[in-house]
Amino acid sequence: MSKDIVCSGIRPTGNLHLGNYFGALKNFVRMQDEYDCYFFIADYHSLTTHPTPGSIYQDARAILAAYIAAGLDPEKATIYLQSDLPETVELYLFFNMNAYLGELERVTSFKDKVRQNPNNVNAGLLTYPTLMAADILIHKATKVPVGKDQEQHLEMTRTFAQRFNSMYHTDLFPLPQAIGSATGLVKIPALNGAGKMGKSEGEASTIFLTDEPSVVRKKIMKAKTDLGPTQPNQTKPEEIENLFTLMRVVSTPETVQHFDDLYNNCQIRYGDLKKQLAEDMVAFVEPLRQRILELSSDEPQLRRILDMGRDKARASATRTLAEVRRVIGYRN
Ligand code: TRP
Repeated sequence: MSKDIVCSGIRPTGNLHLGNYFGALKNFVRMQDEYDCYFFIADYHSLTTHPTPGSIYQDARAILAAYIAAGLDPEKATIYLQSDLPETVELYLFFNMNAYLGELERVTSFKDKVRQNPNNVNAGLLTYPTLMAADILIHKATKVPVGKDQEQHLEMTRTFAQRFNSMYHTDLFPLPQAIGSATGLVKIPALNGAGKMGKSEGEASTIFLTDEPSVVRKKIMKAKTDLGPTQPNQTKPEEIENLFTLMRVVSTPETVQHFDDLYNNCQIRYGDLKKQLAEDMVAFVEPLRQRILELSSDEPQLRRILDMGRDKARASATRTLAEVRRVIGYRN
């Protein structure tokens, strides 16, 4: 039996943080052993919101270096730049011919963007879902690892696939399903005691894989804490539970147990806990940061990775596109 095909796109924005690492990335790394995976950097999609990006390739290669450093293997998964696969654009055109203004205007992410930026409502933004459908269906992917915010886009992908199939009396496209990144993965909390680590909680409460040791230490020492437990075995307030969550991912079980015991008999000193957490966090992040730095300065290596990804992706894409063109009735 052939393997399921997995495809997902990564927006080339910002630096990778601990939340991405334990969320999306761990999931990708696990999947690369199990499925036929296509992971690409969505640098066409970037233009929908940043029509004149200053450093589109620089941003893309920063993400690439981080993903490789964190364990994505270009020999196992196909890792490529969206803009290296112009076949996607032809499929996007075909989907656009049968995508309706009404359904595109009803997409939540579109409505949000219109509200945020009423002066830049371009056709690319409107057709974000058809481009995304093309990304996925160009490889006939059946599984798409994305967060909740992308589920509506996935539903549109199924709509476009189904519509194409029925218009041209074919079963060429599968109906891909989102696979949430929820299963078995730790949600990394922000350091300010509320919400998930990531952009919305601000840079000070987010640990980036590229943070220097002094920065990591400073961020952790500033993390929010309360006044401390007053009764034995008290339930921990969210900000304290969060520090323990972080500790569980970077420290040894003995260390976690040690501080848990101290908390439970009201002898904990948060300063000590944070110092330990900071050291364990540095020990975790520092090798990653070093590998990212090394890779980032190794342009020939990054090029080799991208060339290999592009060639593998194009083999799959040209196959699909030839079928699509035949089904529609073009000369092949
Ligand atoms: N829209 C996705 C996001 O914002 C990125 C993306 C683009 C994507 N094309 C895709 C994700 C195809 C999965 C499959 O995160």
